[in-house]
Amino acid sequence: MESRRILLAISGGIAAYKAPELVRTLRRAGHEVRCAMTPEAARFVSSLALQAVSGETVRSDLFDAGEEGEIDHIGLADWADLIVVAPCTANLLAKMAHGLADDLVTAVLLATKAPVLVAPAMNVNMWSHPATQTNLEILRGRGIRFVGPDSGELACGWEGLGRMSDPGVIAEAAAIELVPETLAGQVVLVTAGGTAEPIDAVRSVTNRSSGKMGFAIASEAARRGADVVLIAGVTSLETPHGVRRVDVQSALEMRDAVFAEFEAASIVVKAAAVADFRPIEASDRKIKKEQLDEGASMTLELVQNPDILQEICSRKENRTIVGFAAESHDVVAAAQRKLARKGCDLIVANDISRADAGFEVDENAVLFVWPSGEVEELPLLPKTGVAAQLFDRIGKLRDSGDS
Ligand code: PMT
Repeated sequence: MESRRILLAISGGIAAYKAPELVRTLRRAGHEVRCAMTPEAARFVSSLALQAVSGETVRSDLFDAGEEGEIDHIGLADWADLIVVAPCTANLLAKMAHGLADDLVTAVLLATKAPVLVAPAMNVNMWSHPATQTNLEILRGRGIRFVGPDSGELACGWEGLGRMSDPGVIAEAAAIELVPETLAGQVVLVTAGGTAEPIDAVRSVTNRSSGKMGFAIASEAARRGADVVLIAGVTSLETPHGVRRVDVQSALEMRDAVFAEFEAASIVVKAAAVADFRPIEASDRKIKKEQLDEGASMTLELVQNPDILQEICSRKENRTIVGFAAESHDVVAAAQRKLARKGCDLIVANDISRADAGFEVDENAVLFVWPSGEVEELPLLPKTGVAAQLFDRIGKLRDSGDS
């Protein structure tokens, strides 16, 4: 890999003692490394040690005229191709989530345009606290990437999640973050989340899609330099960094939004769980129980929604179009039938009967089903990892001119 500029931001946890080893690992991979520390980090690791292994002056004081004169905090934020925050304490995570900038590290993190990779390290109860988990969701939504924490014996004496990942693992994650902008100049259209088909003013027919899979795909495309339009159905997720979002509710609204953006798109990925049917008519007022006889049943008549994927595939031209298939049984055969019927370049099939993959969870286990008949089975991966594998395949497909 070509040499890149990495800023290592260190906060005040016991795992800071691993920072010099991380600097050495990153430098061995050929990168230029500078270090910035919070005032608390200096209690766990010496700036002299970091200076010795990085070969660079270590910055720690936002208001030190000498330090600022050498390289100011905005200059440091601009200098980095990637910022690695390791270890990241619960306190720093909270400050990042809420945009605080009360020391050098937080000021740099607020000012940077570079991607940020975070290696959390904290007590297991601090990690699982709802406040920390909410902060994580906020940061994930902004495109911040995470490596770890690992599970094991913690410095505080507790066992569980909270150990900072090993320097070698963090360096590998950094290499993934430094992926070149192979999608620069491409417009990528992604759909995500479920649709909600109105029954009346308060009720709808919907499904369990959280949007996580599609949002990870949009985020990955943006990371690779694409102009990304994300058409989001029902979801509570934050818009990923660098992504333009269009919110919709029903399948018909999603269809309109897809067609409004389709002309400019060169790559389309349809990860949304679009309802196949909608109530034939929706009441604009709440249907009252009293309108029915006591104990009477109510019948909802449904009509088919348009198949958006199939429609766009019929106007494909030189675009690359990827569909998903959510299957509960006979996954491969069903995905192959969908691929043939809809006419896309690739189907990403997932077995939604698994509890650890598919809807709602952070991981997915997918199969890439190709028109040639080839089927590639991927292991259980974070949805971000599935997204990265997907764009690797899309890149090859476009390079080969087969899409
Ligand atoms: O959102 P998450 O909680 O992260 O969950 C991820 C996921 C399980 C929703 C995702 O991985 C997934 O499988 N998405 C597709 C769900 C789906 O609708 O599958 P399907 O087999 O019913 O549809 C096949 C394809 O046709 C999909 O690309 C779908 O977007 C598209 N479609 C379906 C119906 C329709 N009327 N129009 C469409 O375009």
